[in-house]
Amino acid sequence: AIGYLNGKIISSNDPVLPIDERGHQFGDGVYEVIRVYNGRAFMMAEHMDRFFKSAEAIKLNLGKSSGEILEIVHDLIERSGFRDCDVYMQATRGIAPRNHLFPNVPASISMTVKPSKYVDEEIRSNGAKVKLLPDERWQNCWIKSLNLLPNILAKQEAFEAGALEAVLIREGYITEGSSSNFFIVKNGEIWTAPATNHILHGITRIAVKEMASELGIPLREQAFTPDEMFAADEAFITSTTQEILPVVEADGQKIGDGKPGKVALKLYERFLEKI
Ligand code: PDD
Repeated sequence: AIGYLNGKIISSNDPVLPIDERGHQFGDGVYEVIRVYNGRAFMMAEHMDRFFKSAEAIKLNLGKSSGEILEIVHDLIERSGFRDCDVYMQATRGIAPRNHLFPNVPASISMTVKPSKYVDEEIRSNGAKVKLLPDERWQNCWIKSLNLLPNILAKQEAFEAGALEAVLIREGYITEGSSSNFFIVKNGEIWTAPATNHILHGITRIAVKEMASELGIPLREQAFTPDEMFAADEAFITSTTQEILPVVEADGQKIGDGKPGKVALKLYERFLEKI
């Protein structure tokens, strides 16, 4: 697939980075994943806003305005020829001999554009299984950092247990999924963890808040426990790539009647109208 690195259009497989690159050596950078539907990047302004906030949070100067980055993204999408694709955008603290201290070099900005990867059809229609695992991440999960080791370890463990996603627990409360936000529905009300430093402030989560309000469904940003989840009528996860996906089972135990929930399906229907 097509890629971009520091001003050049490349193939996403090209070996382009020197070993002394800080994303590679330290995970010293931030990223975004953006979905393009029929040639249009969904909620692009929100993604750019989060990209700049993440960069600022790690004291990384992107060296480009959001307008300049948008121009690159749109050009790359057009060159890719894909109408439905996923953009991966990453910025790192650049290329410099390995040293923990910040170097005085420009940020490296890279991107790829690849055909969208959709949720498996069986899971889309029957709902996903999740596994509950301890949230072993740091205190700044709102930063979309390249450091994803706790996330990938949790997701892998969930996968090996036959689940699609790991749902993480910090101090007794569910925070979010390893690469998604997590919601339950109880007595017609949607609950999701508040947008503190302990979760990523998901763009699809913002879309759900908007749609819930449009549909007149109350949404509470309130932390809840695994017990409350098991007692819920339904559950779902959200992310750019998984969109709104019903969750029907956690740790082998059914949630609600073990079928995709009405509210999740209603939100997903609405989502498909918006994209
Ligand atoms: N993951 N929480 C975490 C930890 C995430 O990594 C993601 C997204 C989300 C959902 O955010 P959004 O709705 O903005 O995609 C929540 C992306 C897709 C990824 O790492 O591939």
